[in-house]
Amino acid sequence: MKAKVYLDRNESQFPLSPACRGIIKSKYQKYLLRYTDKSIDSVQNKLLEKLQNLTGIDKTNIALGDGCEEILKICFDHFIKKGDKVLLADKSWGHYKTLIEAAGGAPVYFNLAENRDRYRYDIASFKKNYKKYSPKIVIITSPNNPTGNSIQFKLLCDFIKTAKKSIFILDQAYWGFEDENKNQLKKILTMHNKILITRSFSKYLGMPGIRLGYCIAGDYFKSVKESLNPYLGFNQLSILLGLSALNDLSYYKKIAKIISDEKQKYYDGLKNSKIFKIYKTDTNFLIIKFLPTLEKELRDSVEASTFSLSFPKEEANKYLLRITISDPAINKKVLSLLLRIDKRSR
Ligand SMILES: Cc1ncc(COP(=O)(O)O)c(C=O)c1O
Repeated sequence: MKAKVYLDRNESQFPLSPACRGIIKSKYQKYLLRYTDKSIDSVQNKLLEKLQNLTGIDKTNIALGDGCEEILKICFDHFIKKGDKVLLADKSWGHYKTLIEAAGGAPVYFNLAENRDRYRYDIASFKKNYKKYSPKIVIITSPNNPTGNSIQFKLLCDFIKTAKKSIFILDQAYWGFEDENKNQLKKILTMHNKILITRSFSKYLGMPGIRLGYCIAGDYFKSVKESLNPYLGFNQLSILLGLSALNDLSYYKKIAKIISDEKQKYYDGLKNSKIFKIYKTDTNFLIIKFLPTLEKELRDSVEASTFSLSFPKEEANKYLLRITISDPAINKKVLSLLLRIDKRSR
């Protein structure tokens, strides 16, 4: 049997950039023979300087980690005391709950609303539940997983103002699909001293396997940043690949354009469906709500196919189907399967 194409993990479906592909054969091999060199010439420092350039944030306020997952875990372990509440959207990444509960915290939720063709953050629902729960930590994910929507800057500022008493985590694991605005980033950090922003190399830069992410955070998170800085240093191969990817941003821009064009084919194909509701996303995946009566047929058809799609398990994410965008030939197969089911239901 042919191996499955995994479209249920939001992993990039595209090759490494040319600079990354060349890395093992290159002069950089020497870095793999050493622990992290903490000098000014180290690749780790070069990566921090690159991130400083990209974000406009001083590198002393940037810390690297083994992906956003490690950063979030350290942050939760550090701040959550038994029974502390963490407020997040009801439709959110399922693993937050595991990490929060492992640290002794209790996740509580506000409702993520929807417009005609997009999910959206809703300040009224947030304010109501912020008051109700007085959470120790708030998590806003932008773009969000699994709904793919971003929060607009002005609305984000309203969320931050509402949550002044809490630690505010802005998870931007899906950073990159929209242009960076350095002024906005600076403004967010000056609005509230308890803000931590996480970003990943797993999504836009397509390398979940290198386990690399970073956070932007001020002095309030000094001990989190210290915990992220291991005595013997970082995986140099990951740092080299991360640095090469950031030196190749034009490549990723082209991939983002392909992803955007491919998403349009799904939107066009399913826009008149009575059984699937497709939402606009700002990510490398799209999200579809399906009629509950179709669940078995849909699951069986996907099971029998050559690809896997994600049916998020959490109660609030029920009847949602998340599809990572792949290359045009595979996307065509996925769309054809959905259209066949759509046709049978008429
Ligand atoms: C919203 C969100 N945050 C964080 C992560 C973890 O990212 P990383 O691969 O950088 O650990 C994921 C992974 O899917 C995610 O969806």
